[in-house]
Amino acid sequence: MSRILVTGGAGFIGSHTTVELLESGYDVLVVDNLSNSTAAMIDGVEKITGKKVPFAKIDCSDYEQMDKLLSQYNDIVGVIHFAASKAVGESVQKPLLYYKNNILSLITLLELMKVHKISNIVFSSSCTVYGQPDKEYLPVTEEAPIKPALSPYGNTKQINEEIIRDTAHSDESLHATILRYFNPIGAHPSALIGELPNGVPQNLLPFITQTAAGIRKELKVFGNDYNTPDGSCIRDYIYVVDLAKAHVKAIDRMLEHKAEEQVEVFNLGTGRGLSVLELLNTFMKVTGVNIPYQIVGRREGDIEQVWADPKKANEVLGWKADTSVEETLLSAWRWQQTLG
Ligand code: NAD
Ligand code: WQD
Repeated sequence: MSRILVTGGAGFIGSHTTVELLESGYDVLVVDNLSNSTAAMIDGVEKITGKKVPFAKIDCSDYEQMDKLLSQYNDIVGVIHFAASKAVGESVQKPLLYYKNNILSLITLLELMKVHKISNIVFSSSCTVYGQPDKEYLPVTEEAPIKPALSPYGNTKQINEEIIRDTAHSDESLHATILRYFNPIGAHPSALIGELPNGVPQNLLPFITQTAAGIRKELKVFGNDYNTPDGSCIRDYIYVVDLAKAHVKAIDRMLEHKAEEQVEVFNLGTGRGLSVLELLNTFMKVTGVNIPYQIVGRREGDIEQVWADPKKANEVLGWKADTSVEETLLSAWRWQQTLG
């Protein structure tokens, strides 16, 4: 059998991907230090799949512990590296924490992959590397220029992409797939796993679902004076289960030796831009729940509009994000209701 090491596998995207890997016949090994998740997510994955998930509560930047763990498995053929700190605002306050966690964990993994002869890695990158693309680059393809990062978090993604490229350049046995996610939302249809925001949600949909649940009084819409049809910002919201499936395709492609370049990059989005107000109104329509909201000033550092051109992933990976936004929003609401 082929086993995939999933770092950050108890997290939002990692848990959904672990489900898809198991359902596609892969074995897994999940490593997570639970700094932004709980072991209940692993229980959820086990309930959904009916399979036992080997799980180690380890910091993946701890070389010794990771080395010891990997020595116990001789069937690991690839790594999907989700483990990272991801709160943009916090990264501005605590840059060293972000540089240390996000960069050290990748370096440690790449070192250990060499030692344990694991030659395939999928890395979680982000559309944040494109910043605000110039008009001629919308929708965004993989060829759009990388813009100077707007936060230490964003910078860790750019640096990590460079570390992967340099390491692959120095070692022809290493293959990497860099996946640049747009805005992942929603939860598994079972409502057994989903997103667990830490404190007051910074991201739009968790704030909406918490407001719907009465945990927050009202949503603040950050700006309605942007140069967009309704004045609010535009993003490409992608269903997390669709996103998870792309990881299985990326792993399959590397294991089948189909990759045409040692390091391949794919944008993962729907190809459809939605404004904040459109997302909010669709949520209210499909759930029937009214969300009190107020238009306030712009949020510092926000990008006006960005959405993906997913053609490369569609054609090369044979993957498409095809879940409707209505179904996606309902899944997020069902998950929120399980949280109370
Ligand atoms: P998440 O916080 O839910 O998951 C990350 C997981 O990694 C958590 O369970 C956390 O406990 C774990 N972790 C963090 N540092 C660790 C370490 N040193 N050792 C072991 N475990 C560690 O976040 P997510 O939304 O699932 O994001 C997964 C990946 O995707 C991250 O790399 C993130 O930067 C990237 N990404 C996320 C988004 C998004 O909007 N959610 C968008 C683009 C890219
Ligand atoms: C979406 C839109 C807000 C909250 C962040 C990271 C990015 C990537 C995805 C990881 C924006 C508006 C939000 C609220 C609002 N993550 N909004 N009221 O900004 O696209 O990106 O997550 O790589 O790096 O920066 O996502 O969900 O924070 O915001 O009006 O209470 O919703 O202004 O227009 P964003 P988001």
